[in-house]
Formats: sequence, structure tokens, C-alpha cells
Amino acid sequence: MSTEPAAPMLQARGLSKRFGGLVAVNGLDLDLRARRLLGVIGPNGAGKSTAINLLTGHTRPTTGKVLVGGEDLTAAKPWRLAHAGVARTFQIVKPFRGMNVLDNVAVAAMFSGRPAGARHTVATATRTALETLDRVGLGGKGDLAPAELSVADARRLELAKALALRPRVLLLDEVLAGLRPGEIDPALELIDSLRRDGLALMMVEHVIHAITAIADEVMVLHHGEVLTRGEPATVLSDDRVIEAYLGARFAKRAAEAASRTATVTTAPLMDDATADGSTP
Ligand SMILES: Nc1ncnc2c1ncn2[C@@H]1O[C@H](COP(=O)(O)OP(=O)(O)OP(=O)(O)O)[C@@H](O)[C@H]1O
Ligand SMILES: [Mg+2]
Repeated sequence: MSTEPAAPMLQARGLSKRFGGLVAVNGLDLDLRARRLLGVIGPNGAGKSTAINLLTGHTRPTTGKVLVGGEDLTAAKPWRLAHAGVARTFQIVKPFRGMNVLDNVAVAAMFSGRPAGARHTVATATRTALETLDRVGLGGKGDLAPAELSVADARRLELAKALALRPRVLLLDEVLAGLRPGEIDPALELIDSLRRDGLALMMVEHVIHAITAIADEVMVLHHGEVLTRGEPATVLSDDRVIEAYLGARFAKRAAEAASRTATVTTAPLMDDATADGSTP
């Protein structure tokens, strides 16, 4: 059996984004491959969401390239990238508020470019939507309005909309934010099952223990640049990462714990499952 890694499904080469005087992403190179999950961490404003926006056509790069299956789709519109199999979730969930949960997902299914040449009808899109809702744990909630969903269910809907596109590449922007600790493991199990199905995954996340649990590789962004990348355990014990990111997080938790000294606190300082997506 060949030990060659699979060809990358999504590639960035020298990808940069400048907003006026601010370089939000600077010369990003990455390869996303089937059955691999790249975890992306970094402080607020590091450029994580901008990187996803660049990879999905939601932001036009200032320089650099985006390749999907080897095809140059730099600056292509989001629908074109979605059609090519690149889906994403948004850090701030974006349901169509005038539609129920089922129709939100069915609309995405109608837009799917896969299987190649498929003609989606309302009936087939609805079937795909029902299957997708089941898969993400929203079975039976299709008739609800998005506004009626809990935070966790709104995140599940965001994921269902992405999955209904039948992507080959999925970029997740803080899908665990706002989940309660007990909701994180089932979400990770679902994401892991997507990896086993063959998707290439990138997951931006502040819940560090989730990244350690699931990522094949971790990339740390800082001021728009890759500070380091590699095996999760190696990256997370890197002094530069602790200084730029983890140290500040732990310092914040220490300060919070100190401010609660009048009450008994049992929250461990090193438990990063704040699960609210907040950072220092
Ligand atoms: N449309 C925009 N116009 C101007 N500046 C922007 C725009 N989008 C992002 N920025 C800036 O680019 C930098 C990177 O932002 P980005 O949202 O990518 O950070 P992030 O790593 O996702 O942060 P967070 O962890 O808070 O989500 C920030 O300084 C942000 O203010
Ligand atoms: Mg962000």
C-alpha cells in the first residue's frame, strides 16, 4: 500500500489579506487533505476567520492563490467554491430567519454541486435535509424557526447547512462556541465521523482540549502569520504558543479565579473548556 499522503483537496499559497493598513492574513500556505483535520488556534484578531473567508470566497485575497482539487479558484464567488465542494460554518450563525429549520437546510441541498451533474428537486433536497438534520442531532426540529433553537441547536443548524452541500472540504469557525461542556464531546464525535467519511477538515477553535482531542495537526496564527504548526502536543507545549496565546488565556482565568476568592471556586485554572469562545 502506498504511504504517499492523499493529494490536497484545498490549498492556499501565499494567501494574504490587507484591510487598509492592517495585514489580517500574511502569506498563508496550507494543504487540506481527505480524512485529516487541521486545528487552527490563535488570539482574537489573529486572522483565523479571515483565513476561512479567503478560502471560501467570502473575502477577496490581496495576494496569493486558492486551489481546489488543483484548480485555481482564487477570488471565485462563494457559490462557485461551494459548488466545487468547499463548505464552511460562520462564527456568527447565519440562518435564513424567514424559513424554518428544514427549509434552511433544503435550500443548501438544492445548491449542492454533488454528486456531479445531479439535478436536485424540492423532493430530493428535502430528503437530503431530513437526513442531514438527523445526522447533526436536529431530527424532529425541522418545523421550528431558527430563532426558537438553543445555542447548541443553532450551531447544529449551521453545520447541517454546510453538510447539505455534500462538501469534500469543510471549514468550521468556532462551532463549539457557546456549547455547554457536556455538549462538546458529542459535537467532536460528529466531526470525527465526518473525517472518517473522507472530508478534509479545518477547525478554528478556542476550546483547546477539543483541538488536542481531534486535530491531526495544529496551526497557530498570530498577527496574521503562522507562528508554528505541527503535532498538537508539540505545538501546545511550544513556549511561543504559551506566550502568545495559552499564557494569556490561563492568566485571564487566574485573574478571574482570584476575583472570586470570597466564594469557593472549584474551576481548574488549566481547564480551557470555557466553551463560550471568549478569549483574553
Ligand atoms: N472586513 C474587515 N474590515 C476591516 N478589518 C477587518 C475585517 N475583517 C477582519 N478585520 C480585522 O482583521 C483582523 C483579523 O480578524 P479575524 O476576524 O480574522 O480574527 P480572528 O482570529 O477570527 O479573531 P476571533 O478569535 O476574535 O474570532 C482583526 O484585526 C479584525 O479587526
Ligand atoms: Mg474569528
